[in-house]
Amino acid sequence: MKIGIIGAGFVGRAVAKLAIKAGHQVMLSNSRGPQTLFSLKPMIGCEIGTATQAASFGDIVVIAVPLTAIGQLPVAEIAGKPVIDAVNYYPERDGQVAELDNRSTTTSEYLAGFLPQSKVTKAFNAIQMTDLESDGLPSGDAQRRALPLAGDDPETKKAVIALYDAFGFDALDAGALSEGWRFERGMPTYCVRMTENELKTALERAVKPE
Ligand SMILES: NC(=O)c1ccc[n+]([C@@H]2O[C@H](COP(=O)([O-])OP(=O)(O)OC[C@H]3O[C@@H](n4cnc5c(N)ncnc54)[C@H](OP(=O)(O)O)[C@@H]3O)[C@@H](O)[C@H]2O)c1
Repeated sequence: MKIGIIGAGFVGRAVAKLAIKAGHQVMLSNSRGPQTLFSLKPMIGCEIGTATQAASFGDIVVIAVPLTAIGQLPVAEIAGKPVIDAVNYYPERDGQVAELDNRSTTTSEYLAGFLPQSKVTKAFNAIQMTDLESDGLPSGDAQRRALPLAGDDPETKKAVIALYDAFGFDALDAGALSEGWRFERGMPTYCVRMTENELKTALERAVKPE
């Protein structure tokens, strides 16, 4: 599969490395342009390009930027494509967003509002990238960590589940995109190592903050 990644920081690079190891083709992009990613090409084995080129390149597009940047995404090139939303909301970094502060929407629904023609699935949000690179275990290992996902498009979810598995993680489908609050920042499952059963219980018991 061809994976276009917008954002070449901790998330972009970690996902790129693991995806290439799993046999996928990857293009990384950032805000400053491909000339600033020059060394990554030989180091990671990825293609490099602009955000627009990465969006066009990908059969699936990973959004790995701060929330403040989602208004600048190449909407037309992402239209119709499966999208993985790894974005989290940190007001101290991103500034206050009223709809998120008053809980009238979730971060992934907020992002999906900027990409109305794309098939957004929330994934890779609730794990630190250092752990994503080190915690993977073979399928069937009793200690295998599980990672949550949420979305409305079954095909995109299938692709995410396959990526989680290839990276060494079980997948736990939390339901529709609107259920993504269950593993947003501050929830008990956020960036905590859990097996599939533990994660399932924690997601079910999650209480939506007022
Ligand atoms: N770090 C983690 O462990 C982790 C885990 C899960 C989720 N997340 C979430 O994932 C997102 C990315 O986190 P990160 O830690 O990877 O951040 P980061 O290290 O700060 O990297 C952000 C990347 O986004 C790029 N970017 C910013 N604006 C852009 C734009 N308009 N177009 C294209 N690229 C743009 C930056 O480009 P430049 O290089 O040109 O500045 C940079 O490459 C955040 O929302 C974060 O909360 C992080």
